[in-house]
Formats: sequence, C-alpha cells, structure tokens
Amino acid sequence: MKKIGVAILGLGVVGGGTYKLLTEKADFYRKTQGLDLVVESVLESDPQRTAALGIPSDKIACNIAEAVLNPDVNVVVECIGGTDPAKEYVLAALHAGKTVVTSNKELIAKEFFALEHAAKSHNAGLYFEASCVGGVPVIRALTDGVQSNTITSVKGIINGTTNYILTKMTETGATYEEALEDARKLGIAEADPTADVEGYDAAYKLSILSSLAFHAKVPYTKIFREGITGISAEDIADGNALGYRLKLLAIAKRTDAGIEARVHPAFVRKDHPLASVEGSYNAVFLTGDCVGDLMLYGRGAGELPTASAVVSDIIFAATRGEHRYSHLKSGAHAEKESFSDDFESAFYLRLTVNDEPGVLAKISSVLGKYGVSVEELIQRAERDRPGKATLVLITHKTHELSVKKAVKKLSDSDHASVDSVLRVEL
Ligand code: HSE
Repeated sequence: MKKIGVAILGLGVVGGGTYKLLTEKADFYRKTQGLDLVVESVLESDPQRTAALGIPSDKIACNIAEAVLNPDVNVVVECIGGTDPAKEYVLAALHAGKTVVTSNKELIAKEFFALEHAAKSHNAGLYFEASCVGGVPVIRALTDGVQSNTITSVKGIINGTTNYILTKMTETGATYEEALEDARKLGIAEADPTADVEGYDAAYKLSILSSLAFHAKVPYTKIFREGITGISAEDIADGNALGYRLKLLAIAKRTDAGIEARVHPAFVRKDHPLASVEGSYNAVFLTGDCVGDLMLYGRGAGELPTASAVVSDIIFAATRGEHRYSHLKSGAHAEKESFSDDFESAFYLRLTVNDEPGVLAKISSVLGKYGVSVEELIQRAERDRPGKATLVLITHKTHELSVKKAVKKLSDSDHASVDSVLRVEL
C-alpha cells in the first residue's frame, strides 16, 4: 500500500480537524483509496493544542526545517493563515520538493505566482481547495468540472460570519452590533472581526475563484470592497418589505468591457437561490455558456468541513501520476486586463424627505436627470418626526456613477437627505 507522510503546520481549527480526520479515518482511506495517510510531523508552538489532540512528542517538530526536511514527509499541510511566516514555510516545503496543501486564502490570493513558480521548479504540487468556501469543492469544480465552459460570472456568499450576522438581523430585527455579539458568543465571529465584516476574507476568496474562472489573475487589489458594518436593521426590514434579502455578495463578471469584481452588501430577490442561503452556510453561483447556471452550496468554514477539503487535496495529490497546476495565466497578462468600476446594478435608496406636495416629483426629476428610473417605491410618514416622511425605492438597473451623481444632487438639495444606498443584484 502506498504510504503518504504528512506534516501539519498549525493546529488551529483547520489543522486540528485535519489531524483528526487523518487519524480517525485512516482505515477508511486505506480501504477506499489504497493510501496509508500518516501524520509524521506537526509544527505548533501551543503545547495545549498538541496535548488536546494527544500528539506524541516525537511527532512535534521544533522548527520548520525539521518538519519539511523529514524524509518521511511527502505532503506539507499549511493551516497557519496570513502571509508571515506562512509564505516562508510554504516556500521551504516547496523548495524541499514537498507537495503543499493549504487552506490559506490570503497567501494564495497575494502570492500565487511565487508559490506556483517554486512548486513547478521543484516538481512539487500546490493545492488549495480549502482556501475557498471550506468544504464546498468549488475549486475542483472550476478546474475540472466546468472546464468546457466560458464562465461569464461567479457570484457567491463566500463568508459565513457575515452571512450569519445578516441572517440574524433579518430573522430577529437585531442591530448589527447585537448580531455580531451573538456570532462572537457562538465562535462564528473572531474577537477582531475586521477581515470578515469589512469584506477582506471574501475579496481574497473572490480573487482566487474569479482567477480560476476567467483564466486570468484577478488581483485582490482590483476588487471593489465594502463591508457590512454600516448596515442598519431598518434597511434590512425595508428591503424585506419589498421582497428582498440582504447578503454580502462576492461578484465577478467578465464582459466585453473587461472584468468587474466586487464584494459588497446587496439585496437579492427572495426567490433567487442565493436568498435561501442562511446562517453560516455559503454558496457559489456560476454561469457558464454550456452549463448555464450552477450553484454549489455547503459549509464554508468549520473544523471538519474545511479539513474535508484539505484531506481531499492530499488524496488528489497522492493518487495522480503528475502534479496538476492551476490554469491561471501570468501576472503580466493580468495587468493587461481592464477592470471596470462603473458597475451596472439596480439600487435601493432610503431617503428622508419633507412631507409636502410635489416632493415625489422633485425626487424623481433629480433621479431622471441622471438616467435613474424608479421601479418600486414605498413611503411612510415619520410619526416621531413631524413634517418628514421616509421614501424607500428600488431603481431599475443603472450605472453606479449615475446613482452617485444623483445621490449627491439629492443630498445637496433642501427637500431630501439620503440615509442609505445599497446595491440590488438582479
Ligand atoms: N472567517 C471565514 C468565514 C472562515 O466566516 O467564512 C472561512 O474562510
């Protein structure tokens, strides 16, 4: 039976889950894959973590060289996260000719070409299914399952923390702060939730997924990013009343004008498949010219779902004759791509207006001047603010820059203040 020695760098949630799967399901992998997957080394500075997993002391490496140069190690699993020291450690493994399996989205999004170059130069594999959308095999789908297609769009809910927070706000009317606190108590949000709630995590994942989908590197720096910290319970309730659910969407489209890639909160209609992705679940919605629409749904984070992707990559690497490298073109090619920031979208606007005759006509005249047309509108008097009314409207699809100009004009006027502007993805 083929034996594969594994070193695990970092025994946090994903590394610990990987250790558990490799030890508890070892017999299953022997039977189903003909592989003896053995953890030969771990690199972890926290003794409580190694003790909790019952790892024998002779398997605990003192430094990165000891872990990756161990002659019994064939595959190095990196679950440290971030770029420092993860990049140095991954390069050390690749330079030693060891195949690397990583769950590190930031590292892949930022350093892909340097890592791939090292992997190819040393005939080592580089696999990263666990970097995006946890246990959902979206990278395998993009690199194998839909290769026959020209992919024109990738849309998804690819951050579980924000989806949990927005779902909680929708279901209970909680404020953002209340929902975040609840997510923290459940261990879904980290003590410092910035990477999730400001959209960085989703932008790294979208950079990877759109690069694979479009066969051209989409640098994460080209991705427009807006988080969910400014979302109010009122917006969620008003959107709900109009038949929409608010999600943090990651959207990448390839059009004749170039690539557009963005992460921001957006309303989707309640009958859109992404609207029913609730709590910490994730989904990726792909559109290809042959397959049409395709949605992959599942757990985007967590110990065993993400370890599921890590171990599947180890098995993939161990059972192929030669290493499979990704289909991205060079960095130089990426620089030549045009990236658009004048997105087309419908919009949700919430305005406070003077409750007086003719105000609606004035608002629609300003919007009309910039080519923004109203599709739906609700108005309510503000009992605690005499003389004022709230207008909530959804526009037809229009250009982002047109809406920005119209909003500025309205904000500068005497008859309205613009309280909220959110995109609507149709
Ligand atoms: N913080 C991430 C999320 C974990 O909430 O989706 C998985 O990348």
